[in-house]
Amino acid sequence: MMIEKISKIFHDKFNEDALIVRSPGRVNIIGEHTDYNDGFVLPAAIDKAIYIAISPRNDDKICLHAVDFNEDFNCTLSTIAPSKQHWPNYVLGIVDQLQKKGFELKGFNAVIDGDVPVGAGLSSSAALECATAFALNEMFGLKLYKLEMVQMAQKAEHLFAGVKVGIMDMFASMFGKAEHAIKLDCRSLEYEYIPLHLNNIKIVLFNTNVKHSLASSEYNVRRQQCEQGVEWIKENYPQVKSLRDATIEMLDECVLSKDALIYKRCKFIVEEIQRLLKACEDLKQNDIQSLGEKMFLTHEGLSKEYEVSCKELDFLVESVKNNNAVLGARMMGGGFGGCTINLVKEDAIDNLVNEITEVYQREMKLPLTTYIARIENGTEIIQP
Ligand code: GLA
Repeated sequence: MMIEKISKIFHDKFNEDALIVRSPGRVNIIGEHTDYNDGFVLPAAIDKAIYIAISPRNDDKICLHAVDFNEDFNCTLSTIAPSKQHWPNYVLGIVDQLQKKGFELKGFNAVIDGDVPVGAGLSSSAALECATAFALNEMFGLKLYKLEMVQMAQKAEHLFAGVKVGIMDMFASMFGKAEHAIKLDCRSLEYEYIPLHLNNIKIVLFNTNVKHSLASSEYNVRRQQCEQGVEWIKENYPQVKSLRDATIEMLDECVLSKDALIYKRCKFIVEEIQRLLKACEDLKQNDIQSLGEKMFLTHEGLSKEYEVSCKELDFLVESVKNNNAVLGARMMGGGFGGCTINLVKEDAIDNLVNEITEVYQREMKLPLTTYIARIENGTEIIQP
């Protein structure tokens, strides 16, 4: 359906056929804020995606149209710079990266559409960056590897969106595999697909429908706090390059007496990396109960120690905590809004959704949106 819709819009606007690429949003099962600490993450690509329809031009113009916003954006290859309009930056950031790599591009027309809710923490921006990189790579025959495109997408986000994100979101969007989670080592970038045999359990996302303005500023602050912790550990343990290499004993010795807040931040990360490794074993043994318990612990840490949650997220996790049909729940992604991820027994989903929608609306005075996430393939061409 999405293909027909975007093809038609593209055709009406530019009067020609287009190459269409789909790039999905992502969930992350466990391992939060660990990616920029050289740790591990466990994301998976979902059935909600960004689509880009694209065709080359003979001049140096870039003509973009975003269906959701019903907005156009035009510029030329020689005037690429971050725009005040938000959405074009994810496309422009990729063009900028390609130019910095020395590729001589031509202009292009593109239409962007999708069903990844924006601001829900499902990485619609990473999906758009990956879709753009993949489409330009294909259209101009640039011969880039997927990993190179992922790294360019991450840099694009740093430079054109101003958030010093880790690599997880782009990696998940590009490398996703249906019915599998990706155990990614964010240091070596080695990865392993772990089958998600969830049987009668589904991944349910509850969208708080809030995105607090702290999200990007506090994200960068957390990064600095982790780096500060590493600096102090290094004074005694020069071999420690990131929190990936740190232990709680090292933190007790080198960080606790210097700054209790930074200690708390670093402790969460060190524990979260350990927790993720054990959670991967749970998944391999099909012990979803144990995986779910770890998700609740992750939430506790993100809320109380790393302090990136908010009252809406805490409320949603609290509301399902004592429900036998919910095996695990936690806030997901950067924090300060977006979704919680819940592992829920299939036959209880309808009742649960009704119940939570009602109490959330009543207590938070906000609507709740619910998605059941299917795990799908990563970035791909859907119309050559
Ligand atoms: C955001 C960032 C990711 C990651 C998560 C937290 O989604 O884009 O790189 O750091 O937050 O795990």
